[in-house]
Amino acid sequence: MKTITVNLTPAPSERSYPIHIGSGILSQPQFISRHLTQQRVAIVSNATVAPLYMGRLRASLGAQGVTSVPIILPDGEEYKNWQTLNCIFDALLTNRCERSTAVLALGGGVVGDLTGFAAASYLRGVPFIQIPTTLLAQVDSSVGGKTGINHPLGKNMIGAFYQPRAVLADIETLNTLPDRELHAGIAEIIKYGLIRDPVFLEWIEANMQGLLARDAVILVEAIERSCANKAEVVAADERESGMRALLNLGHTFGHAIENAMGYGVWLHGEAVAAGTMLAANLSHRMGMISRTDVKRIRDLFVQAKLPVIAPNLGAETYLRLMGLDKKVEAGKLRFVLLKRIGEAEVRGDVPSSLLIKTLAECTANA
Ligand code: NAD
Ligand code: GLY
Repeated sequence: MKTITVNLTPAPSERSYPIHIGSGILSQPQFISRHLTQQRVAIVSNATVAPLYMGRLRASLGAQGVTSVPIILPDGEEYKNWQTLNCIFDALLTNRCERSTAVLALGGGVVGDLTGFAAASYLRGVPFIQIPTTLLAQVDSSVGGKTGINHPLGKNMIGAFYQPRAVLADIETLNTLPDRELHAGIAEIIKYGLIRDPVFLEWIEANMQGLLARDAVILVEAIERSCANKAEVVAADERESGMRALLNLGHTFGHAIENAMGYGVWLHGEAVAAGTMLAANLSHRMGMISRTDVKRIRDLFVQAKLPVIAPNLGAETYLRLMGLDKKVEAGKLRFVLLKRIGEAEVRGDVPSSLLIKTLAECTANA
């Protein structure tokens, strides 16, 4: 069992919280019950994850005298919207959940983002605990308090910063994760190496086969090092007024891909991988990283069985969708680019001709 703390400022802050990473945590209810002020919780999950893990979680909580209200959502990125959010509110109200009823998110990033936003706004805020069951959610989305839903016009456009009381990453749940979802999670692990941790990047390169084979020791180390990176960034810039934006490497392009292709067609991690390749190519054209660096990044995504060529949506579609990116300032696009492997910066000075040329030369018809 490994534990990392997300230290929120001003320190010591009662909002600081642990991320527990290990095997079998779902059956260890003390990691949840110590954060409860009421012996009743609501557990939000989806139609895929609930049959696998809801029973185990409810039974282990029940053994500690904690009763639970299960709330089961439809599965899919296309359901990360107002209607599904409202289903959570309906269930919380129907079951008379109170201000001290903790809401637990059991699932991947979609369940986590939806549930966190519901917890942030139900009765103006109720305690929230993340129990991520995908690799992507265990290394990224369950940590840091970004919650929200998609809008037809743009990805993750409505939401709130709302931190969980604890994150419980049980790697046993990854045994049932489809390969494609496992690969998508590796995209966000690679991101940390690229933006701020070159030693971790070398470790990922050396341990990719173990990650793909779901070796437990390697998975725990990858999750731990990813969460340690994310915890440091969130501690330094909780509400993204500066360096947290670096966590969005590849996301400006990636969110446009997810929206244009139809939510759920490209997985988030796949869109991030292809988007990162666009960002890497753009960085090279801006005189930042070398051609060799671009190839190194490409090779790593290929090893992780992730797409490295973004779809050709046409420059106009990319520009329209990226115009809604949350990093846009005074109408100007800003991109996370790589100064070198292991160091990123936000740049608002990308000439539009260079951007359009990159989009034309580095994308392909699907
Ligand atoms: P997801 O939540 O859609 O889960 C992927 C699929 O795996 C789903 O079909 C799900 O039902 C299934 N699944 C989940 N756990 C399983 C398990 N243990 N066994 C079998 N199947 C399982 O996708 P995701 O990749 O976890 O998350 C992507 C979402 O996270 C996107 O909406 C993205 O915007 C968001 N995100 C948020 C943040 C943040 O900081 N809040 C960061 C990154 C991504
Ligand atoms: N995944 C980006 C962030 O949490 O800021």
